[in-house]
Amino acid sequence: MQIVKTAEEFKAIRKSIADTQSIGFVPTMGNLHDGHASLLAKAKLENTLTVLSIFINPTQFNNPEDFKHYPKSLDHDITLAEALNTDYLFLPNNRDIYPDNYNYKITESELSRILEGKFRPGHFEGVLTIVLKLLLITKPTRAYFGEKDYQQFILVKNMAQAFFLDTQIIGCETIRNENKLPLSSRNNRFTAEQFEKVQNFPKIFHDNLSPEEITAELMKAGFEVEYIQDYHSRRFAAVKFGGIRLIDNVEITS
Ligand code: PAF
Repeated sequence: MQIVKTAEEFKAIRKSIADTQSIGFVPTMGNLHDGHASLLAKAKLENTLTVLSIFINPTQFNNPEDFKHYPKSLDHDITLAEALNTDYLFLPNNRDIYPDNYNYKITESELSRILEGKFRPGHFEGVLTIVLKLLLITKPTRAYFGEKDYQQFILVKNMAQAFFLDTQIIGCETIRNENKLPLSSRNNRFTAEQFEKVQNFPKIFHDNLSPEEITAELMKAGFEVEYIQDYHSRRFAAVKFGGIRLIDNVEITS
């Protein structure tokens, strides 16, 4: 696995890769777990080369505390990326990625304003801007996004279409624990006691109840509910427990 630390270095490597090779790209903010591993495994299966990026993108955090406490585990991440036979690990820094001081940004004016966008102002501007930058640097054949962040996946897919990008954007099934809780880097911030109580979130959210009933049950179980909302045949949720945020979504089948 080759570790690449600057955009310029990556762009030079990219130029040396023959057009006959396909590249599968998995962008992450690190603290890798089985969800990321499943994206990498799919990228590996469908492409000749894989690229993983780790960059905790400051512009997508609307809450400075969330940014400060975002879990970091670079040594573990490097070991895991190597074990998964990643070809290139891209680890850029803030100055390299934002030479413009974030004066240029990508704005979407519809889907990014509801659900996550409503509760996290500026979040999707940060996400779309970093994803576009990473796609322009790595120029992958395919890029892989977890469906836990379903709204992000659709926004990125639509952005790729809107800007005529050559990369195919692929959504991958959410990886869950035995209680159906989606794997997330933020789960590592819970104490053991909190984490046990947090298992009630998927139990209640995946129950066959109305959004109002789910909200009431979650509140009874000690969650602060930001939204439980049906949108385009999916049900979306965002809650907080002990100040730590969790999201989920599920297709509405009946
Ligand atoms: O889903 C994430 O981890 C991030 O939003 C992403 C896509 C890596 C952009 O920073």
